[in-house]
Amino acid sequence: MESVSLNASDRVDPAAVPQRKLSTGALMPAIGLGTFGSDHVPAQQVAEAVKGAAAVGYRHFDCASVYGNEAAIGAALAEVMTAGVKRHQLWVTSKLWNDKHAEQDVIASCRQSLADLGLAYLDLYLVHWPFPNFHPPGCDVTARSPNARPYIHSEYMKTWRKMEELIDLGLARHIGVSNMTIPKLQLLLRDARIKPAACEMELHPHFQQPELFNFVVENGIAPVGYCPIGSPRRPQRDRTPDDTAPTEDAVIVEIAEAHGVHPAVVCVKWAVQRGETPIPFSVNPRHYLMNLRGVTADPLTEAEMRAIAAINRNCRLIKGQVFLWKEGQSWQDLWDVHGEITPP
Ligand SMILES: NC(=O)c1ccc[n+]([C@@H]2O[C@H](COP(=O)([O-])OP(=O)(O)OC[C@H]3O[C@@H](n4cnc5c(N)ncnc54)[C@H](OP(=O)(O)O)[C@@H]3O)[C@@H](O)[C@H]2O)c1
Repeated sequence: MESVSLNASDRVDPAAVPQRKLSTGALMPAIGLGTFGSDHVPAQQVAEAVKGAAAVGYRHFDCASVYGNEAAIGAALAEVMTAGVKRHQLWVTSKLWNDKHAEQDVIASCRQSLADLGLAYLDLYLVHWPFPNFHPPGCDVTARSPNARPYIHSEYMKTWRKMEELIDLGLARHIGVSNMTIPKLQLLLRDARIKPAACEMELHPHFQQPELFNFVVENGIAPVGYCPIGSPRRPQRDRTPDDTAPTEDAVIVEIAEAHGVHPAVVCVKWAVQRGETPIPFSVNPRHYLMNLRGVTADPLTEAEMRAIAAINRNCRLIKGQVFLWKEGQSWQDLWDVHGEITPP
C-alpha cells in the first residue's frame, strides 16, 4: 500500500457532505466507508482506516459481523469518540450474517455486534443476504453450506419479525435488507410491520440495476451501493472471465481526466449524484480522502451523468454462487432474473 500521511488541512467538513433523508426523517451521510477487507486486509488495518477516515470527515461506516473486524473497528470508534465526535454524529451500519437467521439468534447477533463495536445502538441493521446459507471466510467458489436452502418467505418473515423487535428494543434505529430482488421486496413490503429503511445492493457504472434502484426509491427505501468502484480487489471466488472494470471504461477514464481525478472518484461522484449512498472501501488515506472530497466539490455535468448512464453493462460482480442451494443451478437463480422468486 502507498504510505501517505495527510496534513491537518486535508479534511472535509462533515457538514458539507450530502445527506440522505430516510423514511423516518433521519439523515444518513450520502457516502460511507466500506469495511470488508475482501479476505486479505487485516482487521487492524481496516480499523486504522476507520480512524483515519473519521479524522478526514467520514461519519458513516458500513460494517458486518462476517467481516471479522467489528471488535477492532469498535476500538477505533471509541478513539474517534474520545477525540470529540459524538455518537449521534456517527452513522454505523451492521449486518446479520446468514447463519444467524433463526429467531433465537437475531437479537443475540445484533447484541454481539453492538458489544464488538462498543455501541448502545446501531443506526442501521441489515439482513445481509435473504438466504440462511453461509460459507467459511476465504472459501472458494465451490463452497456450499450443508443445509443450503432457497428463499422461503415465511422463514424470512420470522427473521424480519425479530429485526422489527430490534427497533422496539432500541438496539437499532433502522432496519433494512441487502442482496434483495423486486419480487422478494414486494412480499416483504406486503407483510412487514416496519418497512426496510434501506436496501444495500451492488451498484456501479457497469451494474446500475435501474429497475431495482427505481423500485426501492419509489417505495421510500434508501439505496446503498456496494462495490461502487467495481471492487478491484474482491476475493477470487467473486471473479469470472467476463467481468468488466468500470474504472477502466473509456467513458469513465475520459471524465476522470477532465476533472483531474482517479476514475474511482468519478464512480463515487456518479453514485452520489444519482441519489444512492455508495460505501467505497479503502485503507489508503489519499484514496478515502479523494472519495469524500469528490462528493463535496466539482460535480459531474448533466452530460457526464448521461454518458455514464449509457455504459451500464448489467455486469454483476458479486454473483453469490456460494449461496446456491442445489446442484446444477446457475448464479442467476439467486437474483430472480425472470421477475419471480426462483422456485425451490
Ligand atoms: N451487502 C453486501 O453483501 C456487500 C457485498 C460487498 C461489499 N459490501 C460493502 O461495500 C464495501 C465496498 O465494496 P468493495 O470493498 O468490495 O469494493 P469497492 O469499494 O468498489 O472497491 C474498493 C477498492 O477500490 C480501491 N479504491 C478505493 N478508492 C480508490 C481511489 N480513490 N483510487 C483508487 N483506488 C481506490 C481500494 O483500494 P485501496 O484500499 O488501495 O484504496 C479497494 O481495493 C465493502 O467494503 C463492504 O462494506 C457489502
